[in-house]
Amino acid sequence: MQLKFNIIAAVCEGNGIGINGQLPWKLKGEMAYFKKITSTPPSGAEGKKNVVIMGRKTWESIPSKFRPLDNRINVVISTTMESGEGSDASKGVMVFRSLGSALSALALPPYSDLCADFWLIGGSSLYAEALRHPNCHRLYITHVLKKFDCDTFLPLIPAQFKAIKVDGVPEGKQEENGIEYEYKVYEATSDPPA
Ligand SMILES: NC(=O)c1ccc[n+]([C@@H]2O[C@H](COP(=O)([O-])OP(=O)(O)OC[C@H]3O[C@@H](n4cnc5c(N)ncnc54)[C@H](OP(=O)(O)O)[C@@H]3O)[C@@H](O)[C@H]2O)c1
Repeated sequence: MQLKFNIIAAVCEGNGIGINGQLPWKLKGEMAYFKKITSTPPSGAEGKKNVVIMGRKTWESIPSKFRPLDNRINVVISTTMESGEGSDASKGVMVFRSLGSALSALALPPYSDLCADFWLIGGSSLYAEALRHPNCHRLYITHVLKKFDCDTFLPLIPAQFKAIKVDGVPEGKQEENGIEYEYKVYEATSDPPA
C-alpha cells in the first residue's frame, strides 16, 4: 500500500522554481504560508506530525540553521546521501533511495502511527514523478505573477488536476516587495493517463 500525498510549490511565469540551488525570489509571507500549510496536521490527527518529502538538492538549499524543517518529519530522497544519525548531513532526517520506497515504508508502523499528511516539497524531478503518481491528491501552487531567471522548473500541471477552493487558503492577489502572487489549489479528478 502507498500513501496519498500533496505537492506544494511556488512557480513563476515560465514555470521556474529555482536558480543556483536557491529560490529566485524572497517572499516572507509566502514562506510563512508554506510553513503553516505543511506543518498543520488535519483535524483528528492532533499529536501526529506532517511529513515533508524532498530531493537532496532541496534539502541542501535549506539554510543549515533551519533544517530539519521544524514540527515536521523530514524525508530526503537521495541515492548518495548517507542515512542515519551518524552523518552530519542527514541529522534529523530520514533518507530513502526512491519516492516509492519512502511512500511504502511510511505507510507501515511505526511511521503510520506518527505521520499525518504527506507533502512533497520539490524539486524538479520529484515533482515530475509525483505529478504522474496515482496517489498524488492535491497541488498547492503559488503562482508568482512575474518572470524570474530560473534553471529549475515545475513540469506542466496535468489536465486531470482542477482548481478548487480550500478553507484557510487566502483568495485573490497577494503582494510583497512589489511582487504579486496568488495561492491556488488543484485536485486530481481522475487517475493520471496510463
Ligand atoms: N519554488 C519552489 O517551490 C521550490 C521547491 C523546492 C525546490 N526549489 C528549488 O529547486 C532547486 C532544487 O531542486 P532540483 O530539482 O535541482 O533538485 P532536487 O529534486 O531537490 O534534488 C535532486 C536530487 O534528489 C535526488 N533525487 C531526486 N529524484 C530522485 C529519485 N526519483 N530517486 C532517487 N533520488 C532522487 C537525487 O539525489 P542524489 O544525487 O543524492 O541521488 C537528485 O540529484 C533549488 O533551486 C530550490 O531552491 C524550489
